[in-house]
Amino acid sequence: MEKFTALRVHAAEQGVAASLDEIGLDDLSDGEVVIRCAWSGINYKDALAITGAGKIMRSLPLVAGIDVAGTVVESTVADCKAGDEVVVTSAGLGETRDGGFAAYARLPAASVIPLPAGFSMREAMALGTAGFTAALAVHRMEQNGQQPGNGPVAVNGATGGVGSVAVDLLAGRGYEVHAISHKAAAAEYLRDLGAAEVIAAAELEMGSRPLEKAVWAGAVDNLGGDMLSWFTRSTRYSGNVASIGLAASHKLETTVMPFILRGVNLLGINAVDTPRGLRQEVWQRLGSDLRPRHLERIVNGEIELDAVSGRVQDWIDGQVTGRTLVRL
Ligand SMILES: NC(=O)c1ccc[n+]([C@@H]2O[C@H](COP(=O)([O-])OP(=O)(O)OC[C@H]3O[C@@H](n4cnc5c(N)ncnc54)[C@H](OP(=O)(O)O)[C@@H]3O)[C@@H](O)[C@H]2O)c1
Repeated sequence: MEKFTALRVHAAEQGVAASLDEIGLDDLSDGEVVIRCAWSGINYKDALAITGAGKIMRSLPLVAGIDVAGTVVESTVADCKAGDEVVVTSAGLGETRDGGFAAYARLPAASVIPLPAGFSMREAMALGTAGFTAALAVHRMEQNGQQPGNGPVAVNGATGGVGSVAVDLLAGRGYEVHAISHKAAAAEYLRDLGAAEVIAAAELEMGSRPLEKAVWAGAVDNLGGDMLSWFTRSTRYSGNVASIGLAASHKLETTVMPFILRGVNLLGINAVDTPRGLRQEVWQRLGSDLRPRHLERIVNGEIELDAVSGRVQDWIDGQVTGRTLVRL
């Protein structure tokens, strides 16, 4: 096979540097399946890796891109054959092995999921790790008793990738969603996705008592830090708080009071280590009862590979609304 273009991150004198490199298949991490990549999308983690703002990549150089959808061109395993359309999200790509920001990817068969019924490859990447993780959180909350009739569910970082999909699919499932955002201009967007209430993060009074007024039946947290603390302290009896992200802080200060006096459940959400069976179950739900209704509203644009490294600082600065697709 001829050389192809990949966005790789290299070690540099100060941190890391990303470049478009011409590489061959033999330069990629090994695996049983080779795909011709069609679409990817940008996640917060990609921005951390490419800018070096977070130590995401375990070895360098590495092809960036934690998500990819494409068509199988070579495979040594029976249940994955040339011509199959597949999707890979949150499986160590762009972290422990070469990722999806390239014309080709070589992948372990265990990480490759057949394109879920009813999705195009582009739609699967409009969801990407962000959408998968939002659905995984709702799945875990519902396994733990969350129901629309229990009361309002809060989603913070609501204009981000995870937040946008969480608002959309929770509202579609009948939950009363209260979307919390730092972006003053985002109210119309969030209402379009189905939010019943839009709350300006700057106007929140989160208090500091071990237990605040119990308002939330559940919460989806993308930020960590003070707001996650407040969610634990303001969730109703037996409610679920899904801890997904750390866009504001990796810290959590709270007390045992919400857990022992209100039976609040703090659910850790980890997309990367999701076992294959659960992964397929969540994708199946994304294509059925958790199917987002406003995916095209969430997609804010499509860019080519050569534009990715110039754009990722926007994610670090918290300036992005929705999901950006990368055409490969
Ligand atoms: N656990 C997992 O498996 C998993 C999987 C996927 C993602 N994540 C994590 O989940 C988080 C969200 O991911 P994403 O892809 O949705 O990211 P994203 O698209 O960059 O969205 C993050 C959102 O958080 C808010 N935000 C950003 N920086 C902030 C800051 N410094 N302080 C307060 N709010 C800030 C912004 O929303 P508003 O302006 O609307 O407030 C922003 O749009 C990230 O931390 C990511 O690493 C974890």
